Amino acid sequence: MKASLIIICIEKIKVTEGFLFIPCLHFFSQVLELVRSRRSKRSFKQTPVERDVIEKVLEAARFAPSGHNEQTTEFIIIQDKKTLNEISSLTAEGIGKLAGYTKNPIGRYMMRRVMGRRGAAYVTELAPEIEGLVSLHKSGTDWILRETPVLLLFCADSAGGTSASINANLALQNAALAAEAYGLGCFYVYFVVVASERVDSIAKLVSLPETHAIYGALAMGYPRLTYKKWPERNPAKVTWVGTDQL
Ligand SMILES: Cc1cc2nc3c(=O)[nH]c(=O)nc-3n(C[C@H](O)[C@H](O)[C@H](O)COP(=O)(O)O)c2cc1C
Repeated sequence: MKASLIIICIEKIKVTEGFLFIPCLHFFSQVLELVRSRRSKRSFKQTPVERDVIEKVLEAARFAPSGHNEQTTEFIIIQDKKTLNEISSLTAEGIGKLAGYTKNPIGRYMMRRVMGRRGAAYVTELAPEIEGLVSLHKSGTDWILRETPVLLLFCADSAGGTSASINANLALQNAALAAEAYGLGCFYVYFVVVASERVDSIAKLVSLPETHAIYGALAMGYPRLTYKKWPERNPAKVTWVGTDQL
């Protein structure tokens, strides 16, 4: 059973071209430098991002690992200002609805049923921030997409469930690192994902088939500002199991 599964997996991997890199310390330091330098950048020049540059970012994205090598992730690239504005407005509507649930007992009850007690508590905690974003949006400031010149949506057939979502988000992270390496800036716009689960019109607007869902969203453009230093992070919380035997 195990052997046949391995054979199926190997068959799915077609080696076409290209050399595999040889691991070395120099390469490791470059990777570490890249992952440390990557920051969310939310202020963009209004210069359009060239199609060939977006394609380079997608090249990195499509090489992300995927469950069972199913390569489920599909990409939607939005550059047109009108559509981007509509996505921002629909997102404000969707997250506004979510924050609204925290305001009444029936909404809170439904949230607990769907998200569990801790999930519902998390949304309740976020509600003031969400309401702030929505009212800023209404006053004409795009604090959701931050006037991004490009929005990349990471989508897949929802039949793939959790795996489809994980695959899409691994692809998103590859894209984010590639973008950083290319001198672009980007940030994850989770609010679009959350809103797309509540407002069908986002999927319709970008012609997403009904079978599909949006699992990740990345705003991307040439950044107005760059950072000089990478920030320190919390120390890794690690549990070493059985290390005394090594
Ligand atoms: C799951 C997830 C959701 C996020 N959603 C948003 C978002 O909706 N809007 C936003 O501006 N940033 C969003 N971010 C970016 C985080 O705020 C950011 O990664 C974090 O503050 C760390 O900063 P850094 O990316 O500069 O290292 C999100 C990041 C992740 C991983």
